[in-house]
Amino acid sequence: MTNKTERIIIFDTTLRDGEQCPGATLNIDEKLVIAKQLARLGVDVIEAGFAFASPGDFEAVSKIAQMVGTENGPVICSLARAIKADIEAAAEALKPAVKGRIHTFISTSDIHLEYQLRKSRAEVLAIAEEMVAYAKSFMPDVEFSPMDAARSDPEFLYQVLERTIAAGATTVNIPDTVGYITPSEFGAIIKGIKENVPNIDQAIISVHGHNDLGLAVANFLEAVKNGARQLECTINGIGERAGNAALEELVMALHVRRQYFNFYFGRPAESQEPLTNIDTREIYRTSRLVSNLTGMLVQPNKAIVGANAFAHESGIHQDGVLKNRLTYEIMDAQLIGLTNNQIVLGKHSGRNAFRTRLKELGFELSETELNKAFVKFKEVADKKKEISDRDLEAIANDEIQQAPDLFRVELVQVSCGSNARPTATVTLRTPEGEELTDAAIGTGPVDAVYKAINRVVNVPNQLIEFSVQSVTAGIDAIGEVTIRLRHESRVFSGHAANTDIIVASAQAYVNALNRLYASLQTQEKPEEVSAQKV
Ligand code: KIV
Ligand code: ZN
Repeated sequence: MTNKTERIIIFDTTLRDGEQCPGATLNIDEKLVIAKQLARLGVDVIEAGFAFASPGDFEAVSKIAQMVGTENGPVICSLARAIKADIEAAAEALKPAVKGRIHTFISTSDIHLEYQLRKSRAEVLAIAEEMVAYAKSFMPDVEFSPMDAARSDPEFLYQVLERTIAAGATTVNIPDTVGYITPSEFGAIIKGIKENVPNIDQAIISVHGHNDLGLAVANFLEAVKNGARQLECTINGIGERAGNAALEELVMALHVRRQYFNFYFGRPAESQEPLTNIDTREIYRTSRLVSNLTGMLVQPNKAIVGANAFAHESGIHQDGVLKNRLTYEIMDAQLIGLTNNQIVLGKHSGRNAFRTRLKELGFELSETELNKAFVKFKEVADKKKEISDRDLEAIANDEIQQAPDLFRVELVQVSCGSNARPTATVTLRTPEGEELTDAAIGTGPVDAVYKAINRVVNVPNQLIEFSVQSVTAGIDAIGEVTIRLRHESRVFSGHAANTDIIVASAQAYVNALNRLYASLQTQEKPEEVSAQKV
């Protein structure tokens, strides 16, 4: 049933599946900032979390439903196992949303049935049907996922889909949970569903897939050709293990190659009508925001949003691009929101110019955040004559970051050099307001700073990732430090930006320690943690 206006529904699961990757844990305020940006990006559905998993998840879903799930906003969705208590929690958390969706799931592959669920096919079929009907009793928009569908027996899959659609599912999602399938196989599964599920025209076919073999985006595009009309994806492709299909790659593939894809939507090849509702100019900023807040770095060669995605290094390519950009460029960097605007503000720029430019860049800071960001801007402008949009983004993102303000860096001083023993002195303000100073010797200045900080904070942890990236070119550039540390089995991330990378390193570390410290104070119950791992 194709018609001219048919298009792809973008279902973003950055805040649910994306947040499941180690260390990407976000607090409620950070989730809200991301949800608002996803709405600005134009996603159709935001999977805001898994309401039953923990009180924090419940509150996040509820707050996003209230603040972002407005009349003209996206559908807000909560995940729920095919269990009554999960469905009730999802329905309750979604109450404030104008448009809410319960997404319930149960495994259908024989391997999951035998070893994980220990249930027969008949039992799973009955549960799926009953729980979809139960979800439907709360709201009209219900999505059902047969988990591990890509490895399920197609005949059983058809049966489950037919019964869940009859029970009220308006979207049926086909997950490649373990990232095992290949594009033509996935296309064949969708084709088989269209041909063998008698009531399939009463539901939207959705796909969800993991990137274990690096095939998630290719699988989805083949699914689209065979009739899938909802894509479940995440910003920067973050998610369980190797991640999910990347939103920016799917959207840009459908945009850049729409002449090719138009056919599958019953449109003339030359139709310029977009295939998604996404405002592509918001892609870059959304990517940076998610990377900064989750601490999940974007690899430089990542398609669409990597630092090198639009850089031409080879002489032959540069020559071609100078003569005609189309020789080696398939899309304009401005399409994803990268501006040519290099120098916008300097040390004489006032508060108003600062606020206006941030607004133009899409940042809506509160008065307190703006005041703090302006102080930082002045500090940076004193050291760095030219402040670009990228610098402003780094400054604003630092303010938006909502790591708990428990320990605060008051002073960092290092002494190092070729014939010196790297030594650091740090002063931290404790959560109780006390100033504590300590010093340490390390293998390098950052190591010395971290050892000194550890002496004050005194929470055992293992640093598992440390990365410095410069925001712009030039010796006076702002450096962004991202770190990840492990405490027992949990990973916490921290991020900070400063023209002094030693100071940025100290702040990023304290940032991560604050998250760790806060989690120790509100330890989640073991059953809550296990419910979150789906
Ligand atoms: O990967 C998966 O199967 C999931 C489901 C809960 C949709 O995330
Ligand atoms: Zn998943």
